[in-house]
Amino acid sequence: VTKLLSEYQPFPFDLEMVRLDFQLDPKATQVRARISMRPLRAAAPLELDGEGLVLRKISVDGRVLARTEYSQSDTGLVIHAAALPAQPFMLETEVEIAPASNTALEGLYMSKGMYCTQCEAEGFRKITYYPDRPDVMARFHVTVSGAGPVLLSNGNPVVQEAGRAEWLDPWPKPAYLFALVAGDLVAHSGSFTTMSGRAVALNIWVRAGDETRCGFALEALKRSMTWDEQVYGREYDLDIFNIVAVDDFNMGAMENKGLNIFNSKWVLASPETATDGDYERIEGIIAHEYFHNWTGNRITCRDWFQLCLKEGLTVYRDQNFTADMRLGPVKRIEDVMALRARQFREDRGPLAHPPRPDNYKEINNFYTATVYEKGAEIVGMLRHLVGEEGYRAALDLYFERHDGQACTIEDWLQVFEDSSGRDLRQFKRWYTDAGTPRLTITDSFKNGTYTLDFEQKTVPTPGQDDKPPRHIPIAVGLLSPQGRDLIETTILEMTEARQSFVFEGLAERPVPSILRGFSAPVELDFAPEAAPDLAFLLAHDSDPFNRWDAGGRLALQTVVAMAQGGAVDPSYSAAIGALLKDGAADPAFSALCLHLPAQDQIAQALHEAGKSPDPEAIYQARETLAQALAMAHEAALSELYEAMAVTGPYRPDPEPAGRRSLRLATLSLLSRIDGGARARTLFDAADNMTESLAALGLCVSAGVGVGVGEAALAQFRARWQGDRLVMDKWFNTQLIASKPDQALSRAQSLVQDPLYDWKNPNRFRSLMAGFSANHAGFHRQDGEGYRFYADWLLRLDPLNPQVAARMSTAFETWARYDLQRQSLMRAQLMRIAQTEGLSRDLSEMTARMLG
Ligand code: ARG
Ligand code: ZN
Repeated sequence: VTKLLSEYQPFPFDLEMVRLDFQLDPKATQVRARISMRPLRAAAPLELDGEGLVLRKISVDGRVLARTEYSQSDTGLVIHAAALPAQPFMLETEVEIAPASNTALEGLYMSKGMYCTQCEAEGFRKITYYPDRPDVMARFHVTVSGAGPVLLSNGNPVVQEAGRAEWLDPWPKPAYLFALVAGDLVAHSGSFTTMSGRAVALNIWVRAGDETRCGFALEALKRSMTWDEQVYGREYDLDIFNIVAVDDFNMGAMENKGLNIFNSKWVLASPETATDGDYERIEGIIAHEYFHNWTGNRITCRDWFQLCLKEGLTVYRDQNFTADMRLGPVKRIEDVMALRARQFREDRGPLAHPPRPDNYKEINNFYTATVYEKGAEIVGMLRHLVGEEGYRAALDLYFERHDGQACTIEDWLQVFEDSSGRDLRQFKRWYTDAGTPRLTITDSFKNGTYTLDFEQKTVPTPGQDDKPPRHIPIAVGLLSPQGRDLIETTILEMTEARQSFVFEGLAERPVPSILRGFSAPVELDFAPEAAPDLAFLLAHDSDPFNRWDAGGRLALQTVVAMAQGGAVDPSYSAAIGALLKDGAADPAFSALCLHLPAQDQIAQALHEAGKSPDPEAIYQARETLAQALAMAHEAALSELYEAMAVTGPYRPDPEPAGRRSLRLATLSLLSRIDGGARARTLFDAADNMTESLAALGLCVSAGVGVGVGEAALAQFRARWQGDRLVMDKWFNTQLIASKPDQALSRAQSLVQDPLYDWKNPNRFRSLMAGFSANHAGFHRQDGEGYRFYADWLLRLDPLNPQVAARMSTAFETWARYDLQRQSLMRAQLMRIAQTEGLSRDLSEMTARMLG
């Protein structure tokens, strides 16, 4: 069944209080629910969701219902109106569930002997009969017994005794925010005093042995709490805030009220086991889940079509938090890189959908880069349109007006309209229309007047042929030929299909710097006569984002030409040489400038140029370019490699992390000409996972002769085989780093490794995503990469449809390749689609990809 936004109906009952009583047992957990309800409409039947529940008892106001008074199906239970009083009443149910056999990791399940839950989006219906929709909010009182010793749920603890605990959450919430955790856990604890002086107990709960790796996450949580008070005026609202780390988890983390549950990968960190990138992500995800307390929990979504209301805003908030904690411009570049790699890719393929979709079959398939990351970009654009103060005023109004409510995108935009007086009707298309607009730029200069002409176009996406123009904030700077800023960065507001902007009184033709800071999620095309001097911008633009982007465009042009038989562009090589000598540049920034375009990005660029991408040629071109840069700049690279060494004990802070990233970027290039010798030395010397893992990858990819890579892999495995998070990296890194013709055989032998536990989502993903990220390996001409990958999706689907469906997006780019590969990929998608008993998740994904 397809769910439609247009069919929204409010729920005809009010829920006052929900009392849940859990008697935990791996095979037979008893859940008793007592829900006080008030009818809002006369004679409405009571529709409750419920899946996989064994109903033991159902009564209304103490009267057990006759079998004729309700109907039951696979997806729920309807109590007929005639069986219900017209006055408030108490519904009581008792059901039995089996957490130990829950392999989908949705609802109540077990991970390494511990009970935990994941209810977003629609997992609560696997726990008890309930109106499992976000606009039904209620207070929860939860009693847990039967396991332990630690027993956790949402809100504040009211009773804690041996073998039994009661929790009361004073804040009404939708069921997707419910959580329960029980098991043998230890806490790393701390406390926080809020801005109004209330003390909050903080705990990070982990399995014994992991408590030494919680310190960073706890400090990140305190920084998040402070930041949300200072920047958004938002204070925490319970006496206790618990975080639990779980090894088996489908996603990154979950913002359950007062009881966040995390994939252990995004909590646990020590210098020996976590990379600089992991530390940054942990800080960002801790912040993200904490920020949801206001943007998601206190103000939630009316229905799941509005998912980006909470996710887009919360991603935007966590991005800004990280930008404030670390290097803002570097963070912005990283975010745009991820957006282009994942969201732009999604937007131009068969899975394109609006940030606010209007139909779906399985909502879990819409936890996407479009909903999250493009959702965040839209918030950023709103801020450009209303300005700094306008943004703060709008957010204040949002919290004031909608606290305690389940809201829509319309409510959100209304707040901006009311507080700023602006008309945002056209802007709303960003939420309702799919696809990435493409801006084509031409310019002219005459008698001191410089004119920029923009044309915007968005190509049709599945189900949306008509793409009216959008309201786009374009941040523009103008540089003198000497590289001086001639104007302050200005936001041009484009609303028409074609529009010109005029700058007067200029002494000479300026060099434009367009879309500074990536002020809108659009693609830029320059008409040939307006093609910017990219090397000039890379050297002189005062906007760090555009500086980096100019370098990236230059690199892409070069490597795209090389993939078609061209040679290295000397102006690109010279620009890199200049960059290596620029002592003033921030190391983290320089490192980003040294990263060559990803193979997937090169493939897309070739496709857009009307060529069918040849994965093998792309791989070779990129290698050749890297090698040429290394040879041309060997001395400067070696010098930087030495100069960027970090001494003293490891710290995950931005400054040393930036030095390491530049060091490793130079090492990556140098490895192309030293056979992996330096990487091998670093691998032996490294005292931290950042360098150790990067060196390992380079030993594998660059290692020539007698198995430099194999030896390093074996050593790494021997050292870390007992550490699940590090072993995930081992599986992942070697597949990404493999030579294309070795990727499949490596993947095939790794699935035989006794440590390959494919039922664990992290392990499955580390192997399979590593393999599909090996562009030329996955896209082997014989199609065996596709077959291998599809085999594993089919194996996982009956156990864990959510993860299988998500991983199927490796096939979303099928249309960009040659006819042979297209038909090989489609054949695998067809084979999946036709499999009997396929999950709703994976069948929706394959159907959409097949078109
Ligand atoms: N709300 C969570 C977050 O963004 C993600 C939960 C996703 N769960 C799912 N089943 N799709 O932090
Ligand atoms: Zn979120």
